[in-house]
Amino acid sequence: MTVAPPTIAPTPSTPLPTVDTPAWLQTLQGVINPIPFVEKARSQYGDIFKGCSVGFPPYIVLSHPDGIEQVFTANPDLFDSVSGNQIIAPITGNQGLLLLEGKAHQQRRKLLMPPFHGERMRAYGETMRAIATQVSQQWPHHQSFVMRTATQEITLRVILQTVFGIDNNERFQRLRQLLSEMLHTFDTPLGSSHLFFTGLQKDFGPWSIWGKFLRRRQEINDLILTEIQERRHQPLGEDILSLLLVARDERGESMADTELRDELMTLLFAGHETTASALAWAFYWIHKIPKVRTKLLAELSDITLDTDPNDIAKLPYLSAICSETLRIYPLVIFTFGRILKQPMEIMGYDLPSGVMLSPCIYLVHHREDLYPNPKEFQPERFLERQFSPYEYLPFGGSNRRCLGYAFALFEMKLILATILKQTLLSLVNQQSIQPVRRGITFTPAGGVPMVVTTTNTTP
Ligand code: HEM
Repeated sequence: MTVAPPTIAPTPSTPLPTVDTPAWLQTLQGVINPIPFVEKARSQYGDIFKGCSVGFPPYIVLSHPDGIEQVFTANPDLFDSVSGNQIIAPITGNQGLLLLEGKAHQQRRKLLMPPFHGERMRAYGETMRAIATQVSQQWPHHQSFVMRTATQEITLRVILQTVFGIDNNERFQRLRQLLSEMLHTFDTPLGSSHLFFTGLQKDFGPWSIWGKFLRRRQEINDLILTEIQERRHQPLGEDILSLLLVARDERGESMADTELRDELMTLLFAGHETTASALAWAFYWIHKIPKVRTKLLAELSDITLDTDPNDIAKLPYLSAICSETLRIYPLVIFTFGRILKQPMEIMGYDLPSGVMLSPCIYLVHHREDLYPNPKEFQPERFLERQFSPYEYLPFGGSNRRCLGYAFALFEMKLILATILKQTLLSLVNQQSIQPVRRGITFTPAGGVPMVVTTTNTTP
């Protein structure tokens, strides 16, 4: 258990606690195994400390709700919140939401918000359930399979359907396969290092890590561009591509093909990787702790496969399990970095422009004062009290808060309920699973090996 030293209100002369290891070592620790690194730094330096990383501005790690509140409630124009995201550009291109700023960002968010919220989002409920059933019925019985791979197939099909309105013709099957293979590049710390160290981004031929990545990306880009060009001549549908095709900016201009491609890639990438890992973690915890599973199955016994998806999304214990899953191992350890464009006071320290504020989701979620026994999976904590947006932030906050947060929670609940109603599962072994880096996200190491013991045909 790590307990942070009490935060002492600084006087103007108090220097900001600073990590005293060399920048190259901090970078390596941050890329390969950041959780023990930030936990140790917090126990040593407290709720706010400064570090240095190669290729990034000096960063300020925040793990106190007061500091997070200051960042999330400040005027977003005070921050450059895209330069820190450049590492994702090789995957998404430069013109998608993750890399837009200011007015362009605001307008794109406004355009993309409706399909991921409210009625439009809920209309995807049946599709989510159908895909979860189709995929889970193909799982072998009494034979081990990797849950993270299975949940990725489900969430990728869901997001393809949402974005393009279709997920099962030849082009989409190829796209699915290529996207999975391309993201597989970042499965290991070595693969992930290619995103952080641009010097590694060299094409040493089709068998090298980056060479393989580039070839797959090229094929994906070609498939998406072909789809865009064909869809320009077809009737519009209810999908997101149709929405983007008719969108016009202030000058009445429509989006160029490359702009559309970057946005579609952003949504495909951001819209399935995290949810796939979140679901794999949820299956792990439900099957790791018998009383959690028993309590959940009792709650699910009151619903059928025809229950209105909205009612399923409101089930209290299922909701608490999803919240606790995203608390204990948040899929993203830090929110996007916010680089100060001008000096700002945070938690009593005067910070200069140019430093990068890094709210640490993981450290906030592991504060003993907010979450007693933080290393224990206890969904009940979410039934017993409510947490503020500065105490619980799996989806970040303010103007950059995850676009798909409502969609992701809705999807997690429907997929869990649909599969657990129809299939009896167990973990292959009871060993504890730790998070491991996969690109910018953190996923269960080994992907959670599971086995189907029985299929319930009369749910
Ligand atoms: C459990 C699943 C998910 C988690 C944990 C998650 C987490 C996050 C986090 C932490 C951020 C950064 C927010 C910040 O810096 O304040 C973010 C941004 C974003 N997420 Fe998610 N996300 C999930 C699912 C999704 C889904 C399903 C979509 C589908 C569209 C999505 C799309 C995005 C986009 C586009 C952004 C950038 C928003 C912006 O810059 O305005 N995410 N997400």
